[in-house]
Amino acid sequence: MLKSCGRKLLLSLVGSMFTCLLVLMVEPPGRPGLARGEAGGAQRALQSLGAAGQAAQGSGGLRSFADYFGRLSRARREVPAAPPSPPRPPAEDISPRDVFIAVKTTKKFHKARLELLLDTWISRNRDMTFIFTDGEDEELKKQARNVINTNCSAAHSRQALSCKMAVEYDKFIESGRKWFCHVDDDNYVNVRMLVKLLSSYPHTQDIYIGKPSLDRPIQATERISENKMHPVHFWFATGGAGFCISRGLALKMSPWASGGHFMSTAEKIRLPDDCTIGYIIESVLGVKLIRSNLFHSHLENLHQVPKTEIHKQVTLSYGMFENKRNSIHMKGAFSVEEDPSRFRSVHCLLYPDTPWCPANVVY
Ligand SMILES: *[C@@H]1O[C@H](CO)[C@@H](O)[C@H](O)[C@H]1NC(C)=O
Repeated sequence: MLKSCGRKLLLSLVGSMFTCLLVLMVEPPGRPGLARGEAGGAQRALQSLGAAGQAAQGSGGLRSFADYFGRLSRARREVPAAPPSPPRPPAEDISPRDVFIAVKTTKKFHKARLELLLDTWISRNRDMTFIFTDGEDEELKKQARNVINTNCSAAHSRQALSCKMAVEYDKFIESGRKWFCHVDDDNYVNVRMLVKLLSSYPHTQDIYIGKPSLDRPIQATERISENKMHPVHFWFATGGAGFCISRGLALKMSPWASGGHFMSTAEKIRLPDDCTIGYIIESVLGVKLIRSNLFHSHLENLHQVPKTEIHKQVTLSYGMFENKRNSIHMKGAFSVEEDPSRFRSVHCLLYPDTPWCPANVVY
């Protein structure tokens, strides 16, 4: 069972976007390859993984990735699950209007992924949701209130992802809102729970909240000058589960994140966008990530989200790989065939008055 889950997750990882996990694969801890000036090491990791995922099952890339993931998931099983955090008293009365939710997407997924989100959670939260994409789409602009063409490349490279995060950051600062949250186009956001969670922290303090995808800090190498390197390790919240940053903290990040600075910071440590956020916050500013197990990415086994707790989660996700599904497990308004992501069923659970939700569903 665990083996098959591992395989499912492995497949999902292989097919998934370029994240820190992949960087770790070729940069094992204690062997800081980047320190030796291996320009483009991370890029090669992506390429070798992509090739491994497409065809050569026996390739060294996949083998070492499988080994690495095997170790990672074993280590993860040994770590006892964090106990549910006790409810915190509200610190501030905030409304959805105070939150800026950036949804990162790409033109290729406007139909395949965004439509589901527009039909479900975004339909109830149009003013707080900002869609960051990389191509013009008149159809999308009619459906969504805030669509921002970042003009970033549609490639899935580290640079393209950082380019989008940089625009998200700048638009958030410009918006004057109290909280910045980033999610991907395969996330369901339970906005009531998000607002409840954020209202337990003052937005003027330094708050960075989300869920790490690794069971230990990531090791990276800071490029200080042309030939001076410095090892660093820090925690980061995985972008695929969504994370939030208070305005107070976001303003302090400005010298490393605003204007063109985010891209140059990402280049300095040669890591993807979500890791760069963690680097700026934990390593540069010395602020600790607050872990929440209410955020969920497709990098975890989503079957493990308890059925009775689905309505309390802040984010959910799903993945589909070689016809194997990683999604939350719930009975609901729609069958798995009709609603493979389960997002429509979740939406009917949270908003039963939605016109397309069947009446009298027993959960
Ligand atoms: C993208 O390019 C268009 C056309 O040049 C411009 O109007 C828009 O402001 C640019 N977007 C960003 C986020 O810079």
